[in-house]
Amino acid sequence: MPRLRVEKITEGDLVLVFLSRDKTWLTKVTSGNLLHTHVGILDIGSLLGKQFGSKLKSTLGEEVWALKPIIHDLILKAERKTQIAYPKDMGLIALKTGLCPGLKVVEAGAGSGAMTMFLANMVRPEGHVYSYDIRPEFLSIVKRNLDKAGLSEYVTLKNADATEGLDVKSADIAIIDVGDPWSLVSPMKDALKGGGRVAALTPTVNQLEKFVVELVRNNFKLIESMEVLVRGIEARPNKTRPEMRMIGHTAYITTARKASP
Ligand SMILES: C[S@@+](CC[C@H](N)C(=O)[O-])C[C@H]1O[C@@H](n2cnc3c(N)ncnc32)[C@H](O)[C@@H]1O
Repeated sequence: MPRLRVEKITEGDLVLVFLSRDKTWLTKVTSGNLLHTHVGILDIGSLLGKQFGSKLKSTLGEEVWALKPIIHDLILKAERKTQIAYPKDMGLIALKTGLCPGLKVVEAGAGSGAMTMFLANMVRPEGHVYSYDIRPEFLSIVKRNLDKAGLSEYVTLKNADATEGLDVKSADIAIIDVGDPWSLVSPMKDALKGGGRVAALTPTVNQLEKFVVELVRNNFKLIESMEVLVRGIEARPNKTRPEMRMIGHTAYITTARKASP
């Protein structure tokens, strides 16, 4: 059934305040919340009861729009203290692993939780993510990011060295984003069900090679490695052309499937 109801902004909702593609703010709507910006003060509380997409004027007369944040916005605005997985890579990983609602996913390492947020948003409401990180200080950041995005209930965070074994069994998908992903092939294999999918992000080809060698040794099938290059397009009447700058490299992605013994 199509959703016909108009979604009104209520107390505690997050809004993405849009000034331009380069300037947005993520903030919580509460009565009395005044957002101080370089284009003047914005009365965020005045959005209560209005529709997402509503216009707001700053004290300096600048117009902004209160957009409904989607997971892409929440990930890009998340607090980060580590290198994070990029949205362009998450999309391919989702397709190649069959990530969808209801699945059980195990992840190492959680880092800043960018990938964890994406995974949780994809598997909810019935699925669950078990995410490991060896550094407790990073898990606190992940927790804050998940709380802010309203995704905490779909994730169990574990402070442990994932190479020492995982207390998760029959997972559908394993995601690896650590410096030595080859050392996680065997523990992830134990955590996955037969036919389960694994995906790893590796910044260098050396890591990719070592990871693939270990996948082969562990009898994984349908092993594929690839890279996603995304080039934005500046669309303007009569002068549409690619953007001058693009992200050159983030990580190589390798995916594979577990064969049953
Ligand atoms: C590049 S970050 C992961 C970023 C994360 N995918 C994100 O999107 O925010 C790598 C993380 O792996 C963790 N790590 C490294 N080795 C680990 C291990 N053996 N077990 C658990 N976590 C590990 C590190 O502490 C670090 O937080």
